[in-house]
Amino acid sequence: MTDNTQPTSNGTIESLLTEQRVFRPLPRVIADSAVNPADLKHAHHKANVNSLAYWEDAAERLQWYRRWDTVLNETDAPFYKWFYGARCNIVHNALDRHITSPNRNKLALIWEGEPGDTRRLTYFELYREVNKCANALRELGVTRGDRVVIYLPSLPETVISMLAAAKIGAIHSVVFAGFSANALAERIEDAKPKIIITVDAFYRNGRILSLKPLVDEALKQVEHSVDHTIVVHRTHVTVDMDTEKDLWWHDIMRGKSYEAITETMDATDPLFMLYTSGTTDKPKGVVHSHGGYMVGVHHTFTQVFDNNATDIFWCTADVGWITGHSYVVYGPLMAGTTTFIYEGHQLYPEAGRLWSVVERWGISVLYTVPTLIRMLMRFGEKYALRHDLSTLRLLGTVGEPISPEAWVWFHKHIGKGKCPLLDTWWQTETGMIMISPYPISILKPGSVARPLPGIDVDIIDDDGNTVPTGKGGYLVIKKPWPAMITTLFNDDEAYKDIYWSRFPGCYCSGDIARKDEDGYIWLQGRADDVILISGHRIGTAEFEAAFATHPLVAECAVIGIPDTIRGEVAKAFVVLKEDTDTLYLMDEEEETEQQLIDHVRAELGSIAVVGSIEIRDTLPRNRSGKIMRRLLRAEATGGDRGDTSTLEEDPFWATIK
Ligand code: WTA
Repeated sequence: MTDNTQPTSNGTIESLLTEQRVFRPLPRVIADSAVNPADLKHAHHKANVNSLAYWEDAAERLQWYRRWDTVLNETDAPFYKWFYGARCNIVHNALDRHITSPNRNKLALIWEGEPGDTRRLTYFELYREVNKCANALRELGVTRGDRVVIYLPSLPETVISMLAAAKIGAIHSVVFAGFSANALAERIEDAKPKIIITVDAFYRNGRILSLKPLVDEALKQVEHSVDHTIVVHRTHVTVDMDTEKDLWWHDIMRGKSYEAITETMDATDPLFMLYTSGTTDKPKGVVHSHGGYMVGVHHTFTQVFDNNATDIFWCTADVGWITGHSYVVYGPLMAGTTTFIYEGHQLYPEAGRLWSVVERWGISVLYTVPTLIRMLMRFGEKYALRHDLSTLRLLGTVGEPISPEAWVWFHKHIGKGKCPLLDTWWQTETGMIMISPYPISILKPGSVARPLPGIDVDIIDDDGNTVPTGKGGYLVIKKPWPAMITTLFNDDEAYKDIYWSRFPGCYCSGDIARKDEDGYIWLQGRADDVILISGHRIGTAEFEAAFATHPLVAECAVIGIPDTIRGEVAKAFVVLKEDTDTLYLMDEEEETEQQLIDHVRAELGSIAVVGSIEIRDTLPRNRSGKIMRRLLRAEATGGDRGDTSTLEEDPFWATIK
């Protein structure tokens, strides 16, 4: 790669507008890549001419129990049915088929715990563990369509239980282990699982964090009752076990058969759901299917990461997020790659942990998030210099915009200028990478390059017209794609409304972006009230609902503000209740704020970072009584206040609670 121009920017959104550096692929990268520039051009051409034929080709590379009648059934759009009429199971492609191939004795999974303990499972060993678990779940009465909630950090058992659930046709719903008991309760109430799988406790940042008590607490809050809680034994923390309902993982696995039948699913049957935040105060369950998801994830994993047989692939995302589902578990395993997973905090016990992992395991592809890169930059390059990173051949990022500075730092100090760095754009709802360079592409720091072949992206204004080059607009997708969301769990109407109603026929991503003269796309942030904290989505409405449950809070408005490490954090404007107001003294302000911050963290979980709180007497409202977050945002960031003609100055509005 060559660095053509000098740095021009200071790391802000404005800097993205002036960023002009370009990195061309090294001849060696082009020579080594399975996809050369001519192939890529051909793929784009083919997909433009007939995108369904393009996806059909991608589907041929996987095994099916029955072939599809039609590649895409659009009769009930936007409930698109990919590979309609086909029968399959993603686990057949992720595991079963490798057992009769040369991959049988290859490492499928390498796991490292935070204290340094490790486990390695070949495809054959993983297959057996999954089968035992599948048999155990079947014995507990779990069948097709039942939900299994998996509340685990990144452990081998997390992968095993996801695959076991999918194998028997159950729908898994992984809940990130950093979520609170309340957040878990909300998801249990919606998903109504038969079984919850959790762990006694796990290691994080040098501490042991108990998880099983949070499940007990969550179950007390909900009306739904689960048949069993299965508990993985990870630490020596003692846990309360209900003698009837709670079961140890090692007990249910003991003596189970190594073979289990893989359920034959319709391609359109649900595989998993994953809750994600939007503009409502409750997260929604995004549902993905066996067939379409399998094709989209397999295709993008093998193509974008130019997968090869000797790769050791490390996606640093927690298995509990979509990135973990698609590119820690399903993508690598379907491709027969060795996937690496790590339990703990990436900077524990020091900032060199990541690089020590790369060196010790010989990681070849590292797919991570800008937040982590920003944290590592703070420590400088000295930690990276202590380790041999020569096995790395490719780098990737996802989840939030990366500033050109962070991009160049990562490319230079970790990739040593020789590893392409791919900034990939996608979402929980898209299931698979949608916009990204290939390793052979020309790279522009801060840009996600062009849509992948077969992905029809447009940037449009409020009236649905394509905006001119260089102008910001709504990022929409104009053609269905295989790994797309199939619906929201138990809420078909919300699915239509949230994603398809604003611009008929177009999937609305909720992101704002612009296109440059080369067709390269630059993400500018969210169009809706969603905050990206360390790349994790949380709706301002969720924050506000959490604040509202505190006895001191009368009302509150939350906005996202920039943060140097996390990208964004929440800032809350809080009006305290009248009766408590009299008790509230100025010198207690800090204490009150801390109490509110702790409360919100307990309500939503550790990712819900409140950067600051401002206690106010009133909040600005428009004439219909709606809080004008735009004004608060302008105040907090020093931006333009915009049109204030509808602002209601009358304090009457401020008293309506
Ligand atoms: C943001 C994560 C800029 C975006 C896979 C999107 C990005 C949301 C990028 C989805 C990127 C994701 N550059 N922004 N490369 N990738 N985003 O559902 O706002 O957790 O809508 O999926 O993250 O977050 P989610």
